[in-house]
This record gives sequence, structure tokens and C-alpha cells, in this order.
Amino acid sequence: MKPHTPINDFLQNYARSGISRFHMPGHKGVSLHGLEPLDITEIKGADYLYEADGIIAQSEAITSSIFETARTLYSTEGSSLSIKTMLAIVMRCGRKGGRTKIIAARNAHKAFINGCILLDIQPVWIYSASPTGSVCGCHVTAENVKAALESNPDAAAVYITSPDYLGNLADIGGISAVCKAFGVPLLVDNAHGAYLKFLSPSLHPIDLGADMCCDSAHKTLPVYTGGSYLHISKSAPTEFSQWAKAEMSLFSSTSPSYLIMGSLDKCAGELQTGLPDSIRSCCQRTRQAAETIRSYGWETAGEEPMKLTVIPNSRGYRGEQLADIMRTHGIECEYSDYSSVVFMPSPYNSEEDFIRLEKAFKEIPKKPPIPTEFEMFPRTNSVMSLREAYFAPCEEIPTEQALGRICARSALSCQPSIPLITGGEIFTPDIIKILKNYSIFTVSVVK
Ligand SMILES: Cc1ncc(COP(=O)(O)O)c(C=O)c1O
Repeated sequence: MKPHTPINDFLQNYARSGISRFHMPGHKGVSLHGLEPLDITEIKGADYLYEADGIIAQSEAITSSIFETARTLYSTEGSSLSIKTMLAIVMRCGRKGGRTKIIAARNAHKAFINGCILLDIQPVWIYSASPTGSVCGCHVTAENVKAALESNPDAAAVYITSPDYLGNLADIGGISAVCKAFGVPLLVDNAHGAYLKFLSPSLHPIDLGADMCCDSAHKTLPVYTGGSYLHISKSAPTEFSQWAKAEMSLFSSTSPSYLIMGSLDKCAGELQTGLPDSIRSCCQRTRQAAETIRSYGWETAGEEPMKLTVIPNSRGYRGEQLADIMRTHGIECEYSDYSSVVFMPSPYNSEEDFIRLEKAFKEIPKKPPIPTEFEMFPRTNSVMSLREAYFAPCEEIPTEQALGRICARSALSCQPSIPLITGGEIFTPDIIKILKNYSIFTVSVVK
């Protein structure tokens, strides 16, 4: 039976109707780029994303039942919007007086930092329990979270990024048990893990006990760039669901993309038919590729089943060099830095893609090992809140002159968008070295 896809049905009917479009957008459905006929605005019958009670509400309800949540909201502005929304919900429903504090693993994405600046939240960082070799990682255990909650009884929430960019998964089950014991909600940045719902058993954070999580549907599911979910668990306080739309609209555009909503709706249709099986097959094929690549002497990292992270230093390459070599083999990776290269397969990769990848690893010659330069985030003192530092008078100076100065605006490279130093923290020699490694040669400091 054809699944119900209310947004798409509306868009297709409208495109076929021949109606004269005296409304936005300006292209009037005339095909210049290709998708204009389906690109509409919030006209009668098309519902309103932030006051949904028609086709958008129906589609969100379908996705919510697929993910078995109390409520799932569509975001057309990525997990970046869903993350800020989670923080605003906690500000509204969970704050415990004074400036809101959130306990967070140090490898948080820029969207979290931006949300904290906008909402005047101060993170209490949990640093990695063991070396990660990359800024992307932060090994956080349930014990680390328990210790942080004991020292910060006024914390309003715990925030964990899992999976991280390299495919490491945190112990969400263990961490959520600790959060529940302390009566504090657990928020998970699951931007990379929408597909985890469809494994057997599910590894999706909501199934493992998170109260809310964001999924960048566009990262691992067949959804246009920008399409994301905000999931609220059935065990979360009901007021989270009640406030969610209002809080999302605080940060979002009033012109949500119907192409993206239509794509999220279409994906829900696929998830009710063959896509979960294809995801499981792709995970198997990815595991097989990882084994083949390891059999050629390469080191891999991460437990995430639909991601392949190669650590090339022991074979004599920096990550960026390996990514360049891959391009000569007709392969573009998702991410590379000095110590890792990340490949993100999906069911829409062909068998030829996998064979090409395995063949490339077979052919690349071995060279003498080179050391990994990064162990884990160096700790530094914070002397101002993120918000105070961000809005303080500031100046741009060369990174090498920053020793002892207060960081005004978090310094990060465009990918993976994890701040190497955040606003309010003091520059140390270790941090300056890491920034230079990331080719960040100027920084913003408080005057
Ligand atoms: C861990 C993590 N969280 C959040 C985001 C933001 O997601 P989006 O691009 O969907 O806004 C990203 C983007 O790469 C990410 O890697």
C-alpha cells in the first residue's frame, strides 16, 4: 500500500493545478532550476510550520509514530535550529534560578555555543575521559556525568553529542539512567544518527533514554540539505512538547522551505516501506568494507555502523593528504583533518562506489608512520560567560600573540565546527598550538 505523504500530495496537486500564482516565491512555479513547481509558500491548505494543524501536522505525526516519540517537529534549518530549540525548551521548562547552566561534553557543535550565547546559558564542560586523537571526540562516561551533576546540582540539563563526527557512540543508556536519577533532562545531538532508529536493536538516543534529540535527517537519510527532526521522548515532561513549536519559531525563518518539508514527508513514506531494510544492508556492507580496508593494513575508528573513519597516520599520511589521494581515485569524503578521514555511506551508494573505495585503499602505498599531534582538548580557565565575552568590546589579533588574553568569539574551523576555544576562556600555549595546526592564524580577544 502506498504510504500517506500529505505534504507531497498537496505539492504535486498544486503543481498540476494550473492555478495562477499571485503569491511568493517570485519564480511562480516556472522551472528554472528544476524544482520550482513544488516550491510554494504557506498558502491556504498548505498549513503553517509553526502553527501546524493540517498537512504539516499530519506529516510530523507520521514521522513521530515512526520514531515512537511524544512529538517530532520538522526543522527546515538543520539540527542547528533543533539544537537551539532544545536549549530554549530547557530555559523555559527546566531552569533552576540564576543563569542557566548546562553540563555538556566538550566536543559540542557551534550550534550549541550559538544557542548558549543567544539564551545566556553557561556550559559546564565535561572533558574526555581518555585521549581521542581528534577535536571531534570526547569520551564521556556515565560516571563523568554523575560527578558533574554532583558538583553542579543547579544544572538544568545534560547535553551529549553522539554519534560524534568520527562515528564514536556514547553510552546514552548509562548516561540517561544517571540523568533520570538526578531528575535532569538529557539532550542529545544526534545530528549524525537519524538512521540509528532502524538498526536491530535500535541505537537511537530516544530509545536509549534521551529526553530530546536532534537528527539531521539530511545527513544520513534521503532528505534535502537542511531537513532535520527535533524529537521529544514520551518520557520527557509534557510541557517540552507543548512549548516546542513556539521555541523553535524564536530562531527560525518565517518562510520555511516546502521543498525541504516535502522531502522530510517523502522520507517518512520511504521509512514505512523498504528503507529500513536498505539501511541495515548498507550497515552490513560498510562493516565489510571496513574489514577489507583493515586487511590492507589501515586503521579504522568509531563504532557507528554506517560510517567509515580511517586514521591514516600509521600508514604515513595526514588525513587531508589521504583525502586528496582519494579525489584522484574519484572519491570525495565527508571530512578530513590531520588525523582522520570520514566516509559516510548510505543505501543510495552503489556497490561500484564501495568497490572503488576498497580498491583505492588497496592501491595507496605504505609510508613510514607519522605522529598524531592532538591528544585531547586542553583544559583552560573560563573567566567570563559565553554571552558576556561574545558581546564585549573585542579586537582581532594574531593567534601567536593571544597568550593570556580572553577569547571573545569562539575559534573554530568551518568543519567540524567544534570550537577549539570558546568565548570567555583564556588562551594557553597548548591552545595556541592547536589553533595553528588548524590554520587559524588570527583570533578575536576581549579588549
Ligand atoms: C555533530 C553536529 N551537530 C550539529 C550539526 C549541525 O547540523 P545541521 O547542519 O543539520 O544544522 C552538525 C553539522 O555538521 C554536526 O556535525
